[in-house]
Parts: sequence; structure tokens; C-alpha cells
Amino acid sequence: KRHLVSAADLTHDDALLILDTAEEMAQVSARAVKKLPTLRGRTVVNLFFEDSTRTRTSFEVAEKRLSADVINFSAKGSSVSKGESLKDTALTLQAMGADAVVIRHSASGAPLRLARSDWLHGSVINAGDGTHEHPTQALLDAFTMRRHLAPGLGHDLAGRRITIVGDILHSRVARSNVLLLATLGAQVTLVAPPTLVPIGIESWPCEVSYDLDAVLAKTDALMMLRVQRERMNAAFFPTEREYSRRYGLDGLRMAALPEHAIVMHPGPMVRGMEITAEVADSPRCTVVEQVANGVSVRMAVLYLLLGGATLADTQPRTNDA
Ligand code: CP
Repeated sequence: KRHLVSAADLTHDDALLILDTAEEMAQVSARAVKKLPTLRGRTVVNLFFEDSTRTRTSFEVAEKRLSADVINFSAKGSSVSKGESLKDTALTLQAMGADAVVIRHSASGAPLRLARSDWLHGSVINAGDGTHEHPTQALLDAFTMRRHLAPGLGHDLAGRRITIVGDILHSRVARSNVLLLATLGAQVTLVAPPTLVPIGIESWPCEVSYDLDAVLAKTDALMMLRVQRERMNAAFFPTEREYSRRYGLDGLRMAALPEHAIVMHPGPMVRGMEITAEVADSPRCTVVEQVANGVSVRMAVLYLLLGGATLADTQPRTNDA
């Protein structure tokens, strides 16, 4: 495969290969000398038209750990603000020899447009497009779930019960997670206010509930999502108090989870809205671990897509050790 645009692009074998490769990359990251020569001489462009903290920095760390030449492009401060199109931006990057483009865009479908175009010859990796998809987030979430719920190379998430709570309507994280988790055999339940459930949800491979308390005891991993006010008409904002009362996770609700269950959040969190500080800071909450795992997963994706080397090259060279 050359691109990663959607979690639906991944077969069961593809997904396991990425998760297993990410485990090897995690071992690299744990070493004193974290760098591999794998992508030496290759250029990766991080093309961010929307804000990001975690995704952008973890791609950059991943690229640098693989020795790629990294170009960071953000729409702010670029000629996009003068009206330059996605096509002309892509042609400019191609002229500079981009081997891969990691793109975040507010328009759902922008990464697919790039991948299907002849504007770029390199790989396209979707780092979040509008309300559509965020496949590397889903991969790092699955990696985190596997480590806690089904550890071991070659393992999938068959039968694990994952509950995703919040603003499903605007969440690219929810869509990519549902698609990938279904591929990995997990049972997914979405919980949201009826106004924040997308039309056509019946065709998604998951259950839908409007009652968070009813599903807590049957959950192995509980993923809380932020209410994305920036994508909403103000008239549709749920009130913070009412939302937190019905769909927020506090210490009492966390106590209703099975003992082994983990609490996840892709970030950014709004403490006091979808999650209390008590839960966010508890040892059951994997939010920081998810960020660390994101580096390993993105190293694996870049390594596999750019085909820089054989797996043997994940071992340190004598002068790297
Ligand atoms: N989870 C996530 O995509 O975070 P950022 O928007 O900070 O990249």
C-alpha cells in the first residue's frame, strides 16, 4: 500500500502488521540512542492546515527517529493565506521532492483528493480530515488497548468491549476507531446525546446507546471524546452542566467500570466537561500513554509505507548503539 487515508483501507493482516511493527518501534524508542537510519535521504512534509498539538509533534518525532528530512508546513504563515490552492501547494511540495506528505485539513476528503491526484508522487498519510477520519489515532488507540487488554504480538481485540462516548457527529476519531476496531474483532458501543449522533449510524459496525450508566459495567475500554464546539452552530451547543451530568465521566462513573477497564481520551481534553480532573489524572487514564504510543505507531506507518528497509534495520547499527 502507498497511502493511509482511511482506517477502512486496512485489512486485519495490515492492522496487525502495523501494531506488531509499532511494538518493535517502541523498543527502539526505549533505547538510549533512539534513531534508526531507515528513512535517511527521504523527505517527509507535515502539511497542517488545522491546529494540532499531539499529531503534528508525534509525526515529527517519528520522522526524526527514522532519520527522515522533515519539512513542517502550516497554513498559517504560508501562501495558503493568500489564496493558494491545495493543488498548487501540493505541486510546490512535489517540486521539492516530498517522498511522503502527512496532511491535516479541515475539509473531509482532502487527503483522498491528494492521494488520487497526480500532483504528488509520494505517500499520503491522513493526520485528520474534517469530521471524516483520523486513522493513525485509531491505530495508536488500538495499540494502547491491545497492550492493556490483549497483550502480545499477533493478537487482535476479538471480543473486547469498547465504549466511545461524546460528540460522535463531529468526531473523525470515533469513525476511524469504529472501522479499525471492527476489523480487529472488538465490539464497539457509541454513546452520545441524540443530537450528536450522525445520520446513517445504522450502517456503522457498532451499537448505539444513549445511556452511559447502562454500559459502564460491560466496558473494557472507555474512550471519552471532546464536544467540538468549533464545528457547531452555537444554537446546538449542549449546556456544559447538562452534558456533564448525562455524558461526563467522573469518579463515581469510573468506579462502575470493571476493575481491569481503562479510560482513554484522544486529546485535547476539556476538564470539567467530558472528563473530571480526578479521572484525567487517575492511573486508569491512558491519555499520556496514548501520546507516547502515537510515536511508535507513526514510526511503523512511515516505515511500512515508505518501504525504507527490512525489519532487520530496526536493530541498532554498531555505531548507533
Ligand atoms: N488527538 C489529536 O489529534 O490531537 P491533536 O489535535 O492535538 O493533534
